[in-house]
Amino acid sequence: MTSADIRQRFLNFFKERDHKVLPSSSLIPFGDPTLLFTSAGMVPFKPYFLGQASPPFPRVTTCQKVFRSSDIDVVGHDGHHLTFFEMLGNFAFGDYFKEKAIPYAYEFLTKHLAIEEKRLWAGIHNDDDESDQIWTKTGIPPERIRRFGDEYNFWAAGPTGPCGPDSEIHYDWGEEYGCGRPDCGPNCEYCDRFLEIWNLVFIQWNRDESGIRTPLTKKGIDTGMGLERITSVVSQKQSLFDTDPFLPLIEHWEQETMPGAARCCSPTGSSRRTTGAAMSSDV
Ligand code: SER
Repeated sequence: MTSADIRQRFLNFFKERDHKVLPSSSLIPFGDPTLLFTSAGMVPFKPYFLGQASPPFPRVTTCQKVFRSSDIDVVGHDGHHLTFFEMLGNFAFGDYFKEKAIPYAYEFLTKHLAIEEKRLWAGIHNDDDESDQIWTKTGIPPERIRRFGDEYNFWAAGPTGPCGPDSEIHYDWGEEYGCGRPDCGPNCEYCDRFLEIWNLVFIQWNRDESGIRTPLTKKGIDTGMGLERITSVVSQKQSLFDTDPFLPLIEHWEQETMPGAARCCSPTGSSRRTTGAAMSSDV
C-alpha cells in the first residue's frame, strides 16, 4: 500500500461516516495573527471550534499540508520527525466526541490498514477516565493504556485558542527495538520502540494570553495522523526516509550528485538518513 492509497482510504473511510471531504488549505493561515504557518490540520477550523463562525458541515475530513518547526532540532536524527508533512484528520464541531473518535481511529487502523491490534497502545491524559473506559471497550486492554500529564497529552495550536486533553495512539515496533527497562512504553525517553502515529484531541477550552482556559459551549474533535508516519508503519520501515514519499527524491539526488554510486542505505532500509533534514513531524 502506498502513501497515496493510505490517503485515499482515510478520506473515504470518513466520507462513508458522513464527513465532508475538504481540500488542504493554504500553508499560510488566512486572518490568523497567532500563527505564521498552518501547523496542524485543525488550523483552518479554529473559528468553528471557538464558536466564532458557524461550520458549513458538522463533520469534515482533510489531508492538510502542514509546516512545523517546534521540533526542528531532532529532524534528521531520529528518522521520524519532519518540518513539512501531510496530516490526515477528522474533525467534528459540536457533533460527536470521544465516544466516536476513539472507535473510528481504532477501526481505521486495524480493519482498513490491517495493523495488528497487539501493536497499538494508547496514551491518555492523567485526568481522563472517560477515554480510559472507551479505549478498553474499543479493544486496547488496560496494560496497553498509559497516562501522562500535559507534556504529552494536552494539545493547543499555540499559546492561545482552542485546546484540550488528547489521546495519542502509539505503534509498538516490538520488544527487540526497546531499551529493556521494565517501564518501557509510549514516550519512552531511552528508546524508539514506540512511535506516536495519531493524536485525537478533545477540544473543550479556549485559552487566553494569560493561560486561563474558558470552557467552550460546544466540544470538538480534532485528530491528526502524519501521512508519512503511518506510511512508515504500513510499509514496515522505521525511517520515514525509506518510504515512498521520499525514496524517489533521495534516489534522484543520489544519481545527480554521485552518478553510478550505490544507494547509501542498507538493503533492509534500516539506516537513518540525514539527507531529508528539511522535514519534521510530531503528530
Ligand atoms: N491538532 C493535533 C495535532 O496536530 C491533532 O490534529 O497533533
